Amino acid sequence: MVTDQSVRTSGVWTDLRNEIVGCDLRVPVLDGSERPYVFLDNAASTPAFRQVLDAVQEFLPWYSGVHRGTGFKSLLATEVFDAAHDAVGRFVGADLDSNTVIFAKNTTECINKLSNRFRFKPGNLVITTMLEHHSNDLPWRKNATVLHVGITPDGHPDLKQMRRLLEENMGRVKLVAVNGASNITGICSPIHDIAIWAHMAGAKIFVDAAQLAAHRRIDMLPDDDPRHIDFLALSAHKMYAPFGTGALVGPTAFFEQGDPDMVGGGVVDVVTLETAVWNKLPHKEEAGSPNVVGGVALAEAVTMLQSIGMENIAAHETALLDYAYRRLKAIPGLVFYGPTEDLSDKVGVIAFNVEGVPHGLTAAIIGTEGAIGVRNGCFCAHPYVKELLHVSPDDDRVLAAEVIAGNKSRMPGLVRASLGCYNNEADIDTLAEMLQRIVRREFKGAYVQDKATGTYRAEGFAPGFERYFSFVGLAAGRERRHSEAS
Ligand SMILES: Cc1ncc(COP(=O)(O)O)c(C=O)c1O
Repeated sequence: MVTDQSVRTSGVWTDLRNEIVGCDLRVPVLDGSERPYVFLDNAASTPAFRQVLDAVQEFLPWYSGVHRGTGFKSLLATEVFDAAHDAVGRFVGADLDSNTVIFAKNTTECINKLSNRFRFKPGNLVITTMLEHHSNDLPWRKNATVLHVGITPDGHPDLKQMRRLLEENMGRVKLVAVNGASNITGICSPIHDIAIWAHMAGAKIFVDAAQLAAHRRIDMLPDDDPRHIDFLALSAHKMYAPFGTGALVGPTAFFEQGDPDMVGGGVVDVVTLETAVWNKLPHKEEAGSPNVVGGVALAEAVTMLQSIGMENIAAHETALLDYAYRRLKAIPGLVFYGPTEDLSDKVGVIAFNVEGVPHGLTAAIIGTEGAIGVRNGCFCAHPYVKELLHVSPDDDRVLAAEVIAGNKSRMPGLVRASLGCYNNEADIDTLAEMLQRIVRREFKGAYVQDKATGTYRAEGFAPGFERYFSFVGLAAGRERRHSEAS
């Protein structure tokens, strides 16, 4: 069913790499040559599915403002945009008779909206975990008192502590907000178990599915199931549809109550100088002109994911992750964070460091000499990364003071390689070969660090972006930034 390079379902998809826009790029490397680009930064943003791009191109001639136009194009666009909401709801198994799908910019905007819409009262608690992306932490801190569940030595959320906190604070906890999968270690939260505990304590559960939606089948389950997920958010740019849309799914009755999070055009049915009567959902929560193209792209992406089969994707990515750990663990001098053996509850995220080499330097060498796209740092999950690295509170304070003083050169961090459904063993081999070279200190470049950003650059490497993309503003933008810096 699943081979190294291809995912097949009923003979329809023969090679998923052909379905990815930009999968065959060649990019410059330090020695002046070009190499095929290996993209292992899918946890940040995935490339686009070709089918998504095709759908956008087919739709663009018909694109028009939605909901209030009377012309054919507007009627068509409205129908497509409304159907896109339903497609996303079905993708996550939501009961669309009682739940609503709200489009926003991304997961971050969805979570901020939900946090604002909860209208927490003083004393209300939100329980979240140390594993969260800042987007599933700071919006709750803004409006409620947040309790953070700690982590076990292998990086999992401490579920015993979570249950204890729920029991001790029964009635005061309004929401448990957890990720579906961590963007650092790939660890998946047992969301349906957590749902049971949250519901028993009289709380709701929110799942940040930004790292889950493109990798595992999601089922919010019927509303009356104790394992039901009450609220969920996802981002299209992590699901092969980078056109600027996110989705928030939750009970219609919840969003029907109270004022919308943001007001303006579109959210109202009737406005007088004194009053405003809110529109029906989802319009009430989608203020202003919506991103119609982004909605169509997201709907096409979920259709494509479903036709590949989420089970096929999960099987392929787990097998590839297993291959990656076997290959990488054979290289002495690499340190891994999070589980590397039991991969059953983990999506394809590999967090590591090369002993004795700063994370920023490792990532720069991988990119500049290996033509491999990875990422480094704390990945918008500072508390979790510092915990995994055992940074002491005292050291943390010193490092924070350095950053505030404009010096990020000693910021702790990790390197992250993250898999998509189209990656293959050859991609992992390329990464492994590059890491071997770094471990043996066989890299070629002389790298200098910019203390203000913490990033490393190879001396003499001029990537020449103009040769690859001809955006006219590129040179002017660079000139302005350089004159500001000098
Ligand atoms: C787990 C998790 N949650 C939330 C986000 C925020 O997603 P976005 O930047 O699309 O709003 C990310 C982004 O990396 C993430 O990994």
